[in-house]
Amino acid sequence: MKNLIIIALALGLSFISFAGISDGMQEELPLTHVQDNDYLEFHNFRTRPRAPIAAGIKINDQPVRSLEEIFSVFSEEVAAVLPEGQTIKESTDSEGRIVWRYPIGTKVIHQLNFKNDKKSLFELRMIERVSNKRWAFGVYHPIEGKLKLANYPGRLPKEFNLRTHDGKPLNIKLSHIPLNVCQNCHNNTTSAPHQYESRIDVGPCEFTPTNPNVKDKWVKEFISAFGRKPVTKTN
Ligand code: HEC
Repeated sequence: MKNLIIIALALGLSFISFAGISDGMQEELPLTHVQDNDYLEFHNFRTRPRAPIAAGIKINDQPVRSLEEIFSVFSEEVAAVLPEGQTIKESTDSEGRIVWRYPIGTKVIHQLNFKNDKKSLFELRMIERVSNKRWAFGVYHPIEGKLKLANYPGRLPKEFNLRTHDGKPLNIKLSHIPLNVCQNCHNNTTSAPHQYESRIDVGPCEFTPTNPNVKDKWVKEFISAFGRKPVTKTN
């Protein structure tokens, strides 16, 4: 009995740890969420570290490991959207480093698609500023014509039977990465650790003022696309 209680408690705790990371995010989004909102693509400035695509990928039953092999069947895009009319607040810390305070409702995505004939969505990873102290991390999967916020313990094994552009069958077996590793890894890999106050405040890895492709290029593109500034200085 005592053991049962311990097991139940442990299961309960592990449930909290993987569900809690996505708290505050919408459970469902339309399949056209990205197209329907003003997401603007940005580019990474480092080639490493890189986010994992999935674990244990096999293409037509052959295990793949190199990035080249992985990107023969996957494409990826990173983009961000700010809530209507709001701006990122820019300041400088005591060591002269630029700090961005992202408005609540900021969403940053890492979209992974298959390179099949239909360019099907594999998964939409999202980081959302849900409060002044927390970034939520979530993954949306296309299910029954909607994007549904995923909630699973550990890895999630899947098999996809697709077709290549020239009509050949393409079988992909893999596991979606565990949800509880998202924020920990971002904590280790972010290009702007100085702007996050705690582990649960850690958010984007490359969508930061340290990335010149964001600080200069994305900001300029935002102004020409939407006719307003995405970043305002506070000191
Ligand atoms: C092993 C480390 C690692 C893990 C685990 C990881 N990421 Fe990332 N993530 C990165 C790195 C590094 C980048 C930037 C480089 C890139 O895009 O490959 C990134 C980029 C992103 C971006 C694009 C915006 C940005 O600059 O941060 C989003 C959104 C994102 N990750 C969400 C997630 C979510 C959600 C999970 C969990 C399912 C996750 N990541 C798991 C390392 C990781």
